[in-house]
Amino acid sequence: EKGGYDYFMLKEIAEQPKAVADTLLGRVDGSGSLTLDEVRIPQSVLREADKVVIVACGTAFHAGLIAKYAIEHWTRIPCEVELASEFRYRDPILDQRTLVIAISQSGETMDTLMALRHAREQGARVLAICNTNGSTIPRESDAVLYTHAGPEVAVASTKAFLTQLVACYLVALYLGQVRGTKWGDEIRAVVRDLAQISGQVERVLETMEPVRELARSLAGKNTVLFLGRHVGYPVALEGALKLKELAYMHAEGFAAGELKHGPIALIEKDLPVVVVVPSPRGRSVLHDKIVSNIQEIRARGARTIVIAEEGDEAVVPYADHLVRIPATPTLLQPMVAAVPLQVFACELATARGNEVDQPRNLAKSVTVE
Ligand code: BG6
Repeated sequence: EKGGYDYFMLKEIAEQPKAVADTLLGRVDGSGSLTLDEVRIPQSVLREADKVVIVACGTAFHAGLIAKYAIEHWTRIPCEVELASEFRYRDPILDQRTLVIAISQSGETMDTLMALRHAREQGARVLAICNTNGSTIPRESDAVLYTHAGPEVAVASTKAFLTQLVACYLVALYLGQVRGTKWGDEIRAVVRDLAQISGQVERVLETMEPVRELARSLAGKNTVLFLGRHVGYPVALEGALKLKELAYMHAEGFAAGELKHGPIALIEKDLPVVVVVPSPRGRSVLHDKIVSNIQEIRARGARTIVIAEEGDEAVVPYADHLVRIPATPTLLQPMVAAVPLQVFACELATARGNEVDQPRNLAKSVTVE
């Protein structure tokens, strides 16, 4: 059932191109417009929503952090993202005009379930993004958009994460469509870019041997840091989470701009630091800033592992290891940038002799608070 792979995680990483394509399937019509009839929340409610709140745990929370950028950029509705386990204890401000999005692969995570119950008690509408048909979270929500990743067995989430991002982008575009902040041709352009992602992930997967080799060479290290800016920041958090879960290593993700406010004190000779570099096209100011961050840490001895778009030559002089990813629009980059980080963590775990599919102390679905 592992389809020739040693681990479910490897199989699930390889299934990502299909999972991404399947999650788009049937949600876009022949003309490139969105057909999200399954979002049963009345359009008037979506039009009047004055706030979006995303609740989730673990990897799904990172998908939510990324979704915030797309939702605010495309719809201009303020969007908060909160760990489900923290949400209800701070007495959050919620009412009928709040749209809550609960993201969960399993649909059974108790923290997320309790957060959405609290939100509904306060009158908010809840849309679930979920991978498991008929599970508790979608059953208790006002509407659900299913991700079509297929069953995910490995505890560390990979293909579910990419499909959660696809679903979040679709919801963001749909909100833009309903509220008129995004016009038909703009939506079609993003949908066209989304349709490219599956093939781009495929290309990333074909070029992962040097990443695996690098991972094996770092098996004796204790710490790996991850840096990113903008949507690359949650990608850095996700890269670090993968390494904690699988390799049991000290791994931390930082916003690259925060370096000088503390984390740069951690940099020492030969410390591996993974940097997720935004596209040099588009928001080029972000790109230039991260290039100087890479210079700063390298000058202090860090061993830089740079994930950058094909054709980005500015990073070359400062990259001890360069991992190329295909050019995508900035907002969509996480779907291709996360893939080398998954492969990296999986290979490091294997090199350290860890159980990849069932890491110690973790469970696939956590049904206690
Ligand atoms: C965890 C899993 O405990 O729950 C993570 O180990 C997962 O991989 C998190 O991201 C959230 O799970 P779900 O099913 O709600 O997406």
